[in-house]
Order: sequence, then C-alpha cells, then structure tokens
Amino acid sequence: MVLSAETIRSYLAQSSLADEYGLDVIVLGEIDSTNNWALQQCKQGRALPFVCLAEKQTSGRGRRGKVWLQSQNANIAMSVVLPCTFARETISHLPLAIGLSIVYALEEMGVKKCQLKWPNDVLVAGEKIAGILIETVSLATSDKRESGNSDESKAADWAAIIGIGFNYDMSDIDKEALLNVAWTDLISIFNSNNAGKVASADCVLQRNEVTAILLKNCLDICSAYPDNVPALRSNFESKYDYCQGKPVELLLDDGKSFAGLAMGLSDNAELMVNIEGVEQVFHSADVSVRPVVKK
Ligand code: BTN
Repeated sequence: MVLSAETIRSYLAQSSLADEYGLDVIVLGEIDSTNNWALQQCKQGRALPFVCLAEKQTSGRGRRGKVWLQSQNANIAMSVVLPCTFARETISHLPLAIGLSIVYALEEMGVKKCQLKWPNDVLVAGEKIAGILIETVSLATSDKRESGNSDESKAADWAAIIGIGFNYDMSDIDKEALLNVAWTDLISIFNSNNAGKVASADCVLQRNEVTAILLKNCLDICSAYPDNVPALRSNFESKYDYCQGKPVELLLDDGKSFAGLAMGLSDNAELMVNIEGVEQVFHSADVSVRPVVKK
C-alpha cells in the first residue's frame, strides 16, 4: 500500500488537531532527504505548518552525520515543519518530547515495552524502531511568506524541522549495513507477538494509518510544548528512560570513548554520566551512547 496524502488527511480529520494547526500533508516519491526538502521549502516561503513524506530517500540523514537507511515504499520517512514562537534555547527538550510522542503512538497501536534511548532513539524491547533528527530554520522571509491557517505561522521567526524515520517494514533492507545496530520494525513486532511486545497481533496497521497516529501524537505534544516539559520529563524518568542507571559507553567524534553510569538528564536535557565517581554532562551533539552489555 503506497502512502497517500488524502488517506493520511482523512485519518487526521478524526482528530481536530491537524485542522487547528492547518497542517498540509505532502507525499513525495524519490528525494534526497525529507529534512533537506523541508529546509528548501521553508527558504522558498512555503506556508507553515506542513509535513512531507518520501517513499524513498537517496541520502536520508541520521544524527551526527550518520546515514539513515529505509526500504522503498515500506517505511516512514517524514519531516514535520512547525513554526515556533518559543525561544530557540527552549528547544533542548524537543527531541525528548518527540521521542515520547512516538512512544505514545506505539502504545496506541498496542505495542508494549517502548522506551527512549537518549537523545533520539525509540526502542521496543531494546531494539530501535525509530530515530529523530531535529533541525531549525530561520524564517527570514516571513514577511513574504504565504500565511497558513495558524496565527503562529505569522508570528514565528523560526521553525523546527522534525525529521522522523520509522521502521515499518524492513524486510527488504540490506541487513549487512545494519549489523552493529539492534533494530526492529512494526511488521515483525506484530507478526511475532512474542515476548509480549504487542497487546494483540490481530491487526497489522497500514502505513497511512500509522503515519496519521504518529502525526497526531506529535502535534498533540507540540501544541503544549514547552509548558509540558516538566510532565514529559517526569514520565520519561519514571518509565521510559532506557539508559537510567545502566553502564554506558560514550563515543566521541575524535574516537575517544568513556565508560560510566547513566544518571538521567540535566536541566538542559543533557546526559549526566558518573565516570569514576565524578558526574559529567554530555551534550547530544557531541556523543553517541551505547549501553554496555554484560557478557
Ligand atoms: C537517527 O536515528 O540518527 C535519526 C534518523 C532520522 C531519519 C529521518 S527520516 C526523515 C528525515 N529525513 C532525513 O534525512 N532524516 C530524517
């Protein structure tokens, strides 16, 4: 089943949020990256907000310069572009907020054992099902911008490009390329129904519906951001922090690595790690985190 803007819109119509936002839905065939396309569109003055999806990305981008792989016509690659009126510094908790919105969407689909691995990995039973890449763009041409339905698009001078890659069906993917990553996809979760990962394996949702559920939860959380940050943090800490209290390895760009114990998040959503008795803080742009698996 191919992605269809009309079908996604019809699912979204069941919740009034997309209408309130005035969200435009665009489905593209093959492009380099939905985040790149969204960025260009913002620069050209496209009305906000919008979401663009691609059936195939030739240069899908992951965090910290990594490549994001997806099967053609089988996964979900989308960029949600929202005008932001809050201060740009307040963006530090947005990856956590979007990650939780994906967790809530999965739970709505009946999937269990969902957690977040700081800063941007959504896991089911410890295996990655989705990744997030958030970028920002100045709306320098906002005076010339066509206005969307929302008043915010007129007031905002910057926008968040929220890139979400969701593994729906990875059966066609080159498994060799993903050897070092523990990953999963929605279809296998529903098909296996083992280890209690889903409440019921009766229904496998179509991609258009899954996309709409992801979007609905994303808009829901974004509409209350950043006022909802304390509640999101408390939910993350009590239930969804995959690394909390675990031994982790931190990998830096220069090849250095540190081992320590994950201690949760700082006030700015940075990762706090106890390294040989000293608490250190790491920014998401600087490190990749790997839980240490005991042998
Ligand atoms: C990560 O896990 O490192 C983040 C992956 C983000 C991938 C998505 S797919 C849609 C959007 N377009 C991109 O080029 N990247 C993001």
